[in-house]
Amino acid sequence: MSADLSELFESNRLWAAATEARDAGFFTRLLAQQTPQYLWIGCADSRVPANEILGLLPGDVFVHRNVANVVVHSDLNALSVMQFAIDMLKVRHIMVVGHYGCGGVIAALKELRIGLADNWIRHVQDVRNKHRPWLDGLADDDARLKALCELNVLEQALNVCETTVVQDAWARDQSVVIHGWVYGLHNGLLEDLKMTAADAAGARAAYEQALAALYARHATTG
Ligand code: CO
Repeated sequence: MSADLSELFESNRLWAAATEARDAGFFTRLLAQQTPQYLWIGCADSRVPANEILGLLPGDVFVHRNVANVVVHSDLNALSVMQFAIDMLKVRHIMVVGHYGCGGVIAALKELRIGLADNWIRHVQDVRNKHRPWLDGLADDDARLKALCELNVLEQALNVCETTVVQDAWARDQSVVIHGWVYGLHNGLLEDLKMTAADAAGARAAYEQALAALYARHATTG
């Protein structure tokens, strides 16, 4: 690695040239407008890049990432991203995407001290605490970690549904569908946790249904 990271600029030049070679005028067309259909809310983990996983190009997906894909009602950063995506870009879908083996979820589950981030991860511990009796009944920590990664997705997706931004969009009949997905680092595949909410009346039911399915799935697989 060079001090000025010149290798990254070289890599960038190759990428830009390859993109332009594959699709002449790609960048100048993007310049004209940004019309993504999707807002991805995912983990900051370097192994979970939104565009690559979806096989989408620049311009296709609006992205917000933080440690453990948490959506907090007072987080102005996440709320601003959501508001811009919904009100200005008119995205049709918002997906909250967790991933198995998430370091933030591991820290929450095992009460590991990291530093300042403990206060952020505390939100994932709230999720653990909410479902603790059930989580404690699972076979081992591996099973609990897998389940908590999924539970965190459902809870954060419900938080998205309950933001004023999404509630206001639904109140004016703007079409925005909220989804809860989880990603496998080990196989590169996305899984739909079926927490799919398209209106205010259906959000809670979508959550309850996805939660019941999650509980049932883990009861049978241990
Ligand atoms: Co993570």
